[in-house]
Amino acid sequence: MALSFANDIRPLFRKGDIECMKDYGFDLSKLSDVRMNAANIYRRLSDKSMPEDGPWPDANISKFKQWMDEGMVE
Ligand code: HEM
Repeated sequence: MALSFANDIRPLFRKGDIECMKDYGFDLSKLSDVRMNAANIYRRLSDKSMPEDGPWPDANISKFKQWMDEGMVE
């Protein structure tokens, strides 16, 4: 089964990530915003410049990429 935003991706974003990034143009808790900014989000996750306080484990970064590749299922 494909990864889904609700089950697999949304839980990866902490409250602080969501609050911080609202000031920079998108809401990480919203599917529509994450879809629209997915390439940018993936770029910052994979160059490890976001989250600002320390990078995600590689397994989570791969999971985000897989979710994108599968068509960003709700
Ligand atoms: C998983 C968590 C996060 C993701 C995916 C993320 C993603 C991004 C992206 C894609 C941008 C570029 C926006 C643009 O200009 O197009 C950005 C910028 C920024 N983010 Fe985050 N962010 C995360 C967490 C955080 C946290 C926790 C903070 C604050 C403590 C933060 C602070 C900032 C700031 C200050 C910028 C603007 C400066 C810059 O581009 O480096 N972010 N973030």
